[in-house]
Amino acid sequence: MSAAGWREVPLGPVIGSEVSGVDLGQLDDALIAKLRARLAERLVLVIRDQHLDRDAHKAVARIFGTGELHRHALNKARGGDDEEVYPVRTTAESKMTAGEGWHTDVSCDPNPIAASLLYMHQAPAGGGGDTIYSSMYECYDRLSAPIKALAEQLSATHDGAFPYRQIYGFEPENGQFNRTVHPVVLSHPVTGRKLLWVNRGFTTGIKGLSHVENRHMLELLFQHIESTLTAQCRVRWEDGTLVIWDNLATQHHAVWDYYPNARYAERISVVGPTLTQ
Ligand code: SIN
Repeated sequence: MSAAGWREVPLGPVIGSEVSGVDLGQLDDALIAKLRARLAERLVLVIRDQHLDRDAHKAVARIFGTGELHRHALNKARGGDDEEVYPVRTTAESKMTAGEGWHTDVSCDPNPIAASLLYMHQAPAGGGGDTIYSSMYECYDRLSAPIKALAEQLSATHDGAFPYRQIYGFEPENGQFNRTVHPVVLSHPVTGRKLLWVNRGFTTGIKGLSHVENRHMLELLFQHIESTLTAQCRVRWEDGTLVIWDNLATQHHAVWDYYPNARYAERISVVGPTLTQ
């Protein structure tokens, strides 16, 4: 089937494409080139009707970023049995669900995840459980010129303790969570385009601002991201759907509207290069 059968329908003008006619279990050079090029352009690829075991899922992930698979600090605590496969499971007993709230995956890492690939094993029986994505290129572009100029001078702390301790109730054995200072505006390592790189999930403070300035500046950027609906697309899941997202140029929000039904997916993520402005 390779890349020759590739059919693509945009989810909207700015972000996201639905792809059919490909078998990701049969990767070859043409399909790898197509996946890389279309992800760089569309940021979110929704690929239907896949039959991937974990090795095949990992093989697709390795074509992005540095090729090194990410090991999530919470993997074991969340029920994982493979360090490179992060389980995203929600049941009637869950007190919270992973990814409910706008975030970028694990931006507290020094070399954040370049791409995440979530493979749906069990979509909620009664519908729901969509994921909403937003383009951080578009959110940067839509800032006013004075705020863009200010944001470009800033850097911010991204702290794993914030979500993992407070929301997940997790305490690492060594007491250490990753915490990294990144520029607020980045140049994407593949496309060179500027993007906004703060997220409500991990970003705890902007360097050099007073407490009040910090609170308001972060809130301004978060609300700008969340209210820029033209930057967003919404993905509806089916069993066998693989969604690949560019984790530098997007944020996402998993919608938990399907209680008490269950949802189960597995995420494999790939580490990216060190970020620069
Ligand atoms: C995540 O944040 O990686 C999970 C997204 C989802 O479950 O849709």
